[in-house]
Amino acid sequence: MSHVYDVPRISPHVAQSPTHPGPCPHPCPDLSPYALPAPPPVPPGVVDRLRAAGCVFAEDEARLILRTARTPEEVESMARRRVAGLPLEQVVGWAEFRGLRISLDPGVFVPRRRTEFLVSQAVAHATGRRSAAREGRAGAVVVDLCCGSGAVGAALVAALGPRTALYAADVDPAAVRCARRNVADIGGRVYEGDLFAALPAALRGRVDVLAANVPYVPSDAVGLLPSEARDHEPLVALDGGTDGLDVLRRVAAGAREWLAPGGCVLVETSERQAAQAALAFVRGGLTARLTTSEELDVTVVVGTAPAAPPGRVAPDSPAAPEGRTHGYAAPPPPAPGSKSSTK
Ligand SMILES: C[S@@+](CC[C@H](N)C(=O)[O-])C[C@H]1O[C@@H](n2cnc3c(N)ncnc32)[C@H](O)[C@@H]1O
Repeated sequence: MSHVYDVPRISPHVAQSPTHPGPCPHPCPDLSPYALPAPPPVPPGVVDRLRAAGCVFAEDEARLILRTARTPEEVESMARRRVAGLPLEQVVGWAEFRGLRISLDPGVFVPRRRTEFLVSQAVAHATGRRSAAREGRAGAVVVDLCCGSGAVGAALVAALGPRTALYAADVDPAAVRCARRNVADIGGRVYEGDLFAALPAALRGRVDVLAANVPYVPSDAVGLLPSEARDHEPLVALDGGTDGLDVLRRVAAGAREWLAPGGCVLVETSERQAAQAALAFVRGGLTARLTTSEELDVTVVVGTAPAAPPGRVAPDSPAAPEGRTHGYAAPPPPAPGSKSSTK
């Protein structure tokens, strides 16, 4: 089951990543690794220690440590923590996500590259709503629930523009502190608490896009995750209960009340969990669509709230721009005497 979560993404490989073969496709201000000056020479001692500790890309990692550390003492301290097994992103204090540099603290979930697919689906939905509405409404209202570092919300604002109103929430105080740093400059607000209970009540019925990258590893598979995740990311960020869907079901059950007419909620799952996840959305009164990226080995469930009653403008979501998709609609009411069906 360790495929449910990949090994945390190693930032220095961005420049060589198969998905970023050339210049960075995203707007990367001067914080981006692409804009950094040529790195200093790598001390062989650091590379050797990283390699001996099992770091396959020891030279790249050493270079990133040298680029990030401000003093030789910091180089030593970072090398020591990396050798001890901390995810590289927690060691250097940042992760790359959709071309953004996301600040990261020890003990906060490292944003995964696969989650960029959820963001692209959310952007497509929000963009479709905006263009269907034609006239210039205010920016989209976006919620990043289970926000961790706030990477998803920050990437959504970067893609949708500065008029986007971003609200984020997480139950873990360390994640909330980290997310506040990452979204402060873009006007995002971050709340601490359990799922929807953390959000301001005034958002009820107004959310255009609700992105929720909930924990979804089945409890008995957490022990099979790579040590970087198992030992250095909080259990609350990984463990999704017996079948991995406990938190997702709660989000699916509560989302409709918070969504604007035609608004959508997006959740990441594994392919194996996808049908049950879609069913949870349908039970929550939403139309569910599954969309899969084979390249990133991830499935996103998109639940859409019913459009506004006639006379009110509520543009529908567009077709997904990429990935393989299929839909689940709310089942018709069961015939008298029959049992309810799952699809
Ligand atoms: C898989 S991590 C995703 C973090 C971030 N969205 C990302 O993609 O990098 C799941 C996050 O959900 C948070 N979480 C777990 N249960 C929660 C709950 N009941 N209410 C709010 N946040 C919760 C964890 O603290 C963790 O930060």
